[in-house]
Amino acid sequence: MKSVQGYTAVAKLLHWAMAVLIFIELFLAYSFGSVRHGVLEQYAGIVYWLHFNIGYTILILLVLRILWRFFHKPPALPSDINQKEARFVNSGHKILYLLMFVMVTTGMLRYNMYLGDFKYLNFINIPAVVGNNQGYAYIIVATIHNMTGALLVATIAAHVAMAIRHHVIDKNDILLRMLPKHCNKNK
Ligand code: HEM
Ligand code: HEM
Repeated sequence: MKSVQGYTAVAKLLHWAMAVLIFIELFLAYSFGSVRHGVLEQYAGIVYWLHFNIGYTILILLVLRILWRFFHKPPALPSDINQKEARFVNSGHKILYLLMFVMVTTGMLRYNMYLGDFKYLNFINIPAVVGNNQGYAYIIVATIHNMTGALLVATIAAHVAMAIRHHVIDKNDILLRMLPKHCNKNK
């Protein structure tokens, strides 16, 4: 019987929890334009509050995930993946880590420059790492945050498309490695 050597339970939990939070984070971010004026204005406060708090949560989870990844190498890729494709898969994952890192750091800097210290969930004080700045530095950081957001959306779309391709067309174990064990019926 064939068995799939998968990611650790912690890696899977962090992957899926962060994927859900990032989807919500992007949905909130792209709602800013709609809640700033007009009939939805009453929801602006909650939409911003959620974006900031979920953003800091993603930041904390990302630090934990990078630490975990540092000490736990991912399982080797299935043998039907050639070296060129393996490099492509690994680079794609590094790019996703990099984009997540840029998003949380520029988001945090942007918040700190504009509003100072952050009160996580309204009660834990996370001190600002930079001082107040509403000049060019703010504009640069804000632009990087916005543009990297768009880049992240495109990269996630490609990542999901590749995961589906591996499962449906190539019929290899790539997707199963990241799913809960019971999804792998051969195990
Ligand atoms: C992976 C995590 C994050 C993603 C995907 C994300 C995504 C985005 C995107 C796409 C925008 C631009 C929205 C637009 O086009 O108007 C935005 C705006 C913003 N984000 Fe984030 N963000 C993340 C984390 C954070 C964090 C940690 C903070 C810090 C609290 C933060 C603070 C902000 C602020 C202050 C804005 C500008 C709001 C405004 O236009 O008034 N973000 N975010
Ligand atoms: C916000 C969305 C997502 C982000 C940021 C993201 C990010 C990542 C990263 C960084 C890895 C590499 C893990 C490592 O080796 O340390 C990974 C692996 C993986 N992701 Fe995602 N992911 C997202 C959503 C999804 C979705 C929706 C799917 C499924 C359709 C998916 C399927 C996979 C699979 C199958 C792997 C393992 C690939 C392998 O075995 O080498 N991801 N993801």
